[in-house]
Amino acid sequence: MIITIDGPSGAGKGTISQLLAERIGAELLDSGALYRLVALVSLRRGIAVSDIAELTAQARKLDVQFLAGGQGVQVLLEGQDVSRAIREEQVGMQASQVAAIAQVREALLQRQRDFAMAKNLVADGRDMGTTVFPDADYKFFLTASAEARAGRRYQQLLGRGESVDMDALIRDIRDRDERDQSRSSSPLRPANDAILVDSTDMGIDQVLQFVLDRLDI
Ligand code: CDP
Repeated sequence: MIITIDGPSGAGKGTISQLLAERIGAELLDSGALYRLVALVSLRRGIAVSDIAELTAQARKLDVQFLAGGQGVQVLLEGQDVSRAIREEQVGMQASQVAAIAQVREALLQRQRDFAMAKNLVADGRDMGTTVFPDADYKFFLTASAEARAGRRYQQLLGRGESVDMDALIRDIRDRDERDQSRSSSPLRPANDAILVDSTDMGIDQVLQFVLDRLDI
């Protein structure tokens, strides 16, 4: 069984996907982590976002491991734990630019589809239900207002001891939405058969329950 959870930045997909996977005993594909990894590599090695050939080559040979553990999934790049590094705001912004490149998306496609070998899979991203797993059993599209999403991100960053400016966060979220929705390859949009969930006024537990209620398990 494959369940896809797509939506814009900060809609709560990551948290919901992780809780859902734990609850139903499924594996988790955090596709955003793959784009963040390519972004991290490009920042560390000084590869410009205009250097499509090199970025694509890096995406193709990405040496990544996802280790499931008590504290969520640990992400290893060439054996090194980069779980925290890939969550930085700068990496997120770079990821959204890297993700706009069709060749990079193509290079990561099979790697994502390989996760379907799991008996049950929860796939979290932007194009899980449209491009990567068009035949998924259940598709959800999770949204929330830009303000609500920026507010959640604010709390998250504050919790990690990072200093943040709310206006800058809202701007970043709008920039990312714009880029995700306007790119030519796999733009962010709900699959025709996706169930829409607007979580602006819903807590995590409510969203999780909403999703569970729609699964025939
Ligand atoms: O945490 P946030 O939702 O902002 O980001 P993420 O899910 O970790 O993804 C990072 C970036 O990768 C996003 O800003 C998207 O531009 C891109 N992405 C994508 O294009 N397609 C996916 N399936 C997942 C992420």
